[in-house]
Amino acid sequence: MSNENLREHTFDGIQEFDNRLPNWWLWTFYLACIFSIAYWVHYHTLGTGELPIEAYTIEQQVAAARLEAELAKNPVTDELLLKLAKEPAVVAEGAKIFKDPGKCALCHKPDASGLVGPNLTDAYWIYGNKPMDIYTTIRDGRPGGMLAHKDQGPLFIQRATAYVLSIMNTNVPGKPPEPNAKKQ
Ligand code: HEC
Repeated sequence: MSNENLREHTFDGIQEFDNRLPNWWLWTFYLACIFSIAYWVHYHTLGTGELPIEAYTIEQQVAAARLEAELAKNPVTDELLLKLAKEPAVVAEGAKIFKDPGKCALCHKPDASGLVGPNLTDAYWIYGNKPMDIYTTIRDGRPGGMLAHKDQGPLFIQRATAYVLSIMNTNVPGKPPEPNAKKQ
């Protein structure tokens, strides 16, 4: 550090050297620039990377697919249906089915508070609120106007069941309990 490197300005008698920045420091800076461009292109321009929220959604879908595959191999039980009802990706699929204006929502309303069909969020059930009761109701239908959904396949019935279980006892104000329903 010679005097040649002294910069011209002086503040309160303090002078400054004009030294080269150390190479190791410069390289951390250059690499950070290169990294940021690569990051931007990978995640935001080409979209080849998964942002955390996408990665999370994919993870949930994988978990849901694994459970659904397990269900396909085994007989459906209360326990397996309850597990499904805790999988956000399955419940989300079930919600899509339920809220479809031409499906469940047509008779139960999108919020499940009841219209032609009963309120599914209260504590009163005609055919029981055990997971297999609900599964059977959706699969085979019920004589009072509940349609059978056998022809929609097992995935449809499982997802719809998972959704109904997920909203159970949320008590959305709506249709009063049916006269033949029992408190569960
Ligand atoms: C055409 C109208 C209609 C559609 C569509 C319909 N439901 Fe129903 N649902 C009913 C009626 C009416 C009842 C009551 C049946 C009875 O009293 O026998 C019922 C009963 C039920 C019950 C039993 C309630 C209890 O108290 O035991 C469940 C669960 C149910 N529906 C879920 C669904 C789901 C899930 C879907 C969509 C996959 C759906 N329903 C589609 C009309 C419908």
